[in-house]
Amino acid sequence: MSDPKVLIGVIGGSGLYHLNNLTLVKEVSPQTPWGQPSSPITIFSLPSGTHVAFVARHGAHHTYLPSDVPSRANIAALKSIGVQAIVAFSAVGSLREEIRPGDFIIPGQIIDRTKGIRPASFFEGTRIVAHAMFGDPFDDPLRGVLQTLVKAALEKTGRDVRLHTDKTVVCMEGPQFSTRAESEMYRMWGGDIINMSVLPEAKLAREAELSYALIATATDYDSWRVSEEPVTVAEVIKTLTTNADTSRTVTETIIEELQAAILKADVVRSAKGSMQYSLISRRD
Ligand code: ADE
Repeated sequence: MSDPKVLIGVIGGSGLYHLNNLTLVKEVSPQTPWGQPSSPITIFSLPSGTHVAFVARHGAHHTYLPSDVPSRANIAALKSIGVQAIVAFSAVGSLREEIRPGDFIIPGQIIDRTKGIRPASFFEGTRIVAHAMFGDPFDDPLRGVLQTLVKAALEKTGRDVRLHTDKTVVCMEGPQFSTRAESEMYRMWGGDIINMSVLPEAKLAREAELSYALIATATDYDSWRVSEEPVTVAEVIKTLTTNADTSRTVTETIIEELQAAILKADVVRSAKGSMQYSLISRRD
């Protein structure tokens, strides 16, 4: 039997280390020029025959700090098995009153506070000079489809979880959480949520011409609320498990329709070839 087509890759964040209720087909650990992915890639099938690939961003047993995640290997490994669209999950802090712990967010913009710290390009260390377009850091057609599917999937769970869209995620270095002053500054900058993981993943997906969107799940109110204690790990973990359960249910519910949308609409098509005019020169 030839290998199944796996168009969709899911990257699980903190708390989301595996998927449920799907049939495990196989586990692969592709070696890439940037090393091995942070966990083996598990490929699952649905009764319809649709397949999905899953990788745990922080490792199957949460062994990678956000700064140490081998993002280049993760993206390259997903690409090498044929994935075209990536749905990434991540726990985030909320910088806005209306985004409550437990809520889901599909952001549209990113503020980068990791620049120059993490390896963020496949072209680093090569002789190729390239500049990817990143004004719209997420794939808009993919975001559009996800907004509809995730909203419906959340309603189906019957849980009191809101979906927020078109928000801005601040990606900070960590591993410490922000000070109150930083948290307040991010709010003034227009940040709505904060995490340590969307970058360089989103940049690398763009360079690899893969559609990429983030489903963020809020665990805490970060440190900006003056009347409350700043965020603690205990607070994050308390909400993480419920969020991960909901994320698994959402994933199982949307995969089928997401694949159908990928096959018939513009999802994926806008990412393919997006680097065509991005290579400037080759240094000799
Ligand atoms: N991930 C979850 N909560 C966070 C916070 N408050 N800051 C940064 N990353 C987070």
